[in-house]
Amino acid sequence: MSQSALRIGLLGHGTVGRAFEHLLAERAERVAELTGRRPEISGVLTRSSGAFEQILESSDLIVELIGGVEPAHDYVRRSLEAGRDVVTANKQLLSRHGEELWQLARERELALGFEAAVAGVVPVIRVLRESLAGTRIERIHGIVNGTTNFILSEMTRTACSYETALAEAQRLGYAESDPSDDVGGADAAAKMAILARLAFDAPVHIDEVRYEGIEQITPDDIAYARELGLALKLIGTAERLHDGISVRVHPAYLYAAHPLASVGGSFNAVTVEAEAITEITMSGPGAGGPQTASAVLGDVIAAVAPGRPNGAAPMTNPVPLPIVEDVVSAFYLHMEVADRPGVLAQIAQHLGEQGASIKSVVQRGLGDNAQLVMVIHPLLESLLRVATEAIAELDAVHGLPRAIRVIDEEFE
Ligand SMILES: NC(=O)c1ccc[n+]([C@@H]2O[C@H](COP(=O)([O-])OP(=O)(O)OC[C@H]3O[C@@H](n4cnc5c(N)ncnc54)[C@H](OP(=O)(O)O)[C@@H]3O)[C@@H](O)[C@H]2O)c1
Repeated sequence: MSQSALRIGLLGHGTVGRAFEHLLAERAERVAELTGRRPEISGVLTRSSGAFEQILESSDLIVELIGGVEPAHDYVRRSLEAGRDVVTANKQLLSRHGEELWQLARERELALGFEAAVAGVVPVIRVLRESLAGTRIERIHGIVNGTTNFILSEMTRTACSYETALAEAQRLGYAESDPSDDVGGADAAAKMAILARLAFDAPVHIDEVRYEGIEQITPDDIAYARELGLALKLIGTAERLHDGISVRVHPAYLYAAHPLASVGGSFNAVTVEAEAITEITMSGPGAGGPQTASAVLGDVIAAVAPGRPNGAAPMTNPVPLPIVEDVVSAFYLHMEVADRPGVLAQIAQHLGEQGASIKSVVQRGLGDNAQLVMVIHPLLESLLRVATEAIAELDAVHGLPRAIRVIDEEFE
């Protein structure tokens, strides 16, 4: 029996678009075997060639690999309105307009695949949507940006500066010439908004994700922390709290036994925690043309495979939850101090007044230029700010303490 065609309209022909086209040609027989349809590219849209309306008209499914918010948003919306299944790798789009698009797909019983939008080929979306669909997820920690993980790994490996590590990342193609979305945390924030939406069934817009980047990290932050057994990563956190949820991205220290502590180079990894499952960690390449294309092709197959009308469990109708701003964290504090009797006691008193206690402490140097590095037990971030401002007023302390969060979970 002759197979019908699966006509795929390809929007975007850059790093991922081209890799997808190659992969599709290479795996055409396998796709036909799994879907019962012969895949073909029915049209390709770039800035300089192709017409969207024409491609839409002649396609059964649209793959959006343009990136950015507009016109990707317009094209994906119109594709769904026209009854086409869609696969996208676009985290910016979904972290802003996800609800509108998921609702459209739900109402029209269409697939809207987005595995490649978070952590590249690491199948975290599918695990959250399907395998853990019945699990009450408490927390997700993720290394969801390969550029920053590469830079921090390089700073750890060679004790070089942030600038040197960034230049190396750019030389090797792990960082773009304008790396600001990656190093500033915005890229990771978009991905965490999507993961939080899946984990908590609550709408999360990127504007509700607090984020900080790694531009201020110094070689000292890495070297001193090593003595305390800590590794520094850019961590995205989505967690359920008693009064709502918190979604945030910031540099954070991890103890060596944490599953994310050993994830090096440009790899991504996501840890999901729930009472029923304890903890699972998925890791792998978070970017790259062929890797990302592989996730895109998986979604294409799922979208049209027989007996799977939506490609995956449909996205639920979300229920809003309050976004909590002030959360509890453990902290690493680095202070430049004059090594005088009683300094540590004064610092401990200011911390104690806000309810914080010291877990471990290391002192380096003597005289007027000593460094005091400590890890303090969890407290509300607003109270930590009060304590560090008071500590900065002490005669023996030079400047505001550097504060970096510590994820103080230890998994055996
Ligand atoms: N690269 C990765 O490793 C990676 C990993 C995970 C997810 N993603 C996601 O995958 C998507 C594609 O990324 P990419 O790295 O392949 O991007 P890219 O190399 O910059 O390619 C973008 C493509 O889209 C086209 N395009 C841009 N604006 C357009 C417009 N207004 N109208 C029509 N076409 C337009 C470009 O056309 P021209 O050819 O004319 O410039 C180009 O072909 C993004 O959402 C990205 O976040 C990428």
